[in-house]
Amino acid sequence: MQTPYLKTALVACGCLLALSLHAQQMPGQTSSAMQARQMAASAPRDPALKPYFAEFGGKPGLKAIVNDFMINLMADPRTHPFFARVDRERIKRELVDQFCVILDGPCTYTGASMAEAHRGLGITRADFNALVEDLQKAMTKHDVPFHAQNRLLAKLAPMHKVIIEK
Ligand code: HEM
Repeated sequence: MQTPYLKTALVACGCLLALSLHAQQMPGQTSSAMQARQMAASAPRDPALKPYFAEFGGKPGLKAIVNDFMINLMADPRTHPFFARVDRERIKRELVDQFCVILDGPCTYTGASMAEAHRGLGITRADFNALVEDLQKAMTKHDVPFHAQNRLLAKLAPMHKVIIEK
């Protein structure tokens, strides 16, 4: 039986692993410049993640998770300054659609590219990692199994290439 602390640590490790894995180029992969361009343009749909959509509670589950995610971002002094003066309701809708698309749910993402949305915000790696922690907290609160959390986080990790600016 894993303690909650150990579980959190395992998820955090999984995420950091994903972040560092995606920071390198694997043999046979597209160039990182190409990956970054793809990431800048769209949120990729991944049919392999379809089984996980239900583990997030479908679209209602994603809405509840993203709602708590935004509460966490606002309560977190590291991320609060970024979200204090933006249209948070719109961002939440876009996040739900983006996560839903990644998990191959019946949604369409119509928001800005990740490059456009974050251009000029001066986001650092520490800011990025803080946001990931706040998302992990929200997913854990909503009982998303850790293996499912890690699948979504592994898809978000490569986005750091176009989101982090300094
Ligand atoms: C993988 C990580 C991230 C994802 C998937 C993500 C996703 C999104 C999405 C979908 C939007 C709305 C796009 C639109 O306007 O149509 C957005 C906007 C925004 N994001 Fe992120 N984001 C990520 C990381 C971050 C980080 C690390 C920060 C800062 C700590 C951040 C701050 C913002 C802000 C301030 C906006 C609103 C910009 C504006 O409306 O002017 N994001 N993000």
